[in-house]
Amino acid sequence: MAEAILSTHALSRSFGPLKAVDAVSLNIPRGSITGLIGPNGAGKSTLFNLLTGALKPDAGTVLLDGRDITGDAPNALFAQGIGRTFQIPRPFARMSVLENAMLAPTGQTGETVVGPFLFRSRMRDQERRIRQKALDVLEFVTLAPLADHPAGKISGGQMKLLELARVLMGDPALILLDEPAAGVNPKLTETLIGRIEELNRQGTTFVIIEHDMDFVMRHCEPVIAMAQGSVVFQGTADEAMANPVLLDAYLGATANA
Ligand SMILES: Nc1ncnc2c1ncn2[C@@H]1O[C@H](COP(=O)(O)OP(=O)(O)OP(=O)(O)O)[C@@H](O)[C@H]1O
Ligand SMILES: [Mg+2]
Repeated sequence: MAEAILSTHALSRSFGPLKAVDAVSLNIPRGSITGLIGPNGAGKSTLFNLLTGALKPDAGTVLLDGRDITGDAPNALFAQGIGRTFQIPRPFARMSVLENAMLAPTGQTGETVVGPFLFRSRMRDQERRIRQKALDVLEFVTLAPLADHPAGKISGGQMKLLELARVLMGDPALILLDEPAAGVNPKLTETLIGRIEELNRQGTTFVIIEHDMDFVMRHCEPVIAMAQGSVVFQGTADEAMANPVLLDAYLGATANA
């Protein structure tokens, strides 16, 4: 079993009486593309929100590289190398694709106590660096030709690639993707998978929430399944496919076909 980059212990979060995430303990192996599956409402996105600081847990702990990061704010976690995309991308629609990428935090804000002149020239340097980095990242996700287009005018699949670009501005070691292939045409999905696998070869760890079982089976290892707030399965993709409980309850029509 590979060492864990991220692990949770008895992580819990309720909304009123609903235990959306109920004592979840799991390990994300470093260097993996871990698949997180489960029916609608299982608690997958809520778990992501807990791991990225968007929501505070009621109980339990989250460790990143063995350090306790429970309850840390999103900016702090981003700076520590956790990037995430949202189930519904929300770019600034009237700003360009490039500007959207440039707005992502990069963790290079530099010193805060410098003289005004030095400060201005550093800001210019910094803006140049960020712009160049954003162009490089857009090139990587194949969006460079659309850099000057309003982000509100690109396709849903291109928005998912832009989400990935924004995440990459922070040089994350761990990227959480919430349904990256949902509503994306097959060609762009292939592009996205190609980029994910390239980053993974370079050492980036991924956790991917996905309903498309074909996607999960082909690209994710290990697979973790949640239902009603709990982890109900952890294993290889092949084991997931052979697990009768998963087949019946969680994989649905795809697996039964
Ligand atoms: N902010 C919130 N306030 C109240 N209830 C919430 C909130 N966020 C999520 N829930 C509820 O928590 C449960 C888990 O939701 P969550 O979005 O985590 O599920 P999911 O596994 O991501 O589902 P899906 O596959 O449909 O995206 C659901 O019953 C949902 O309605
Ligand atoms: Mg969700």
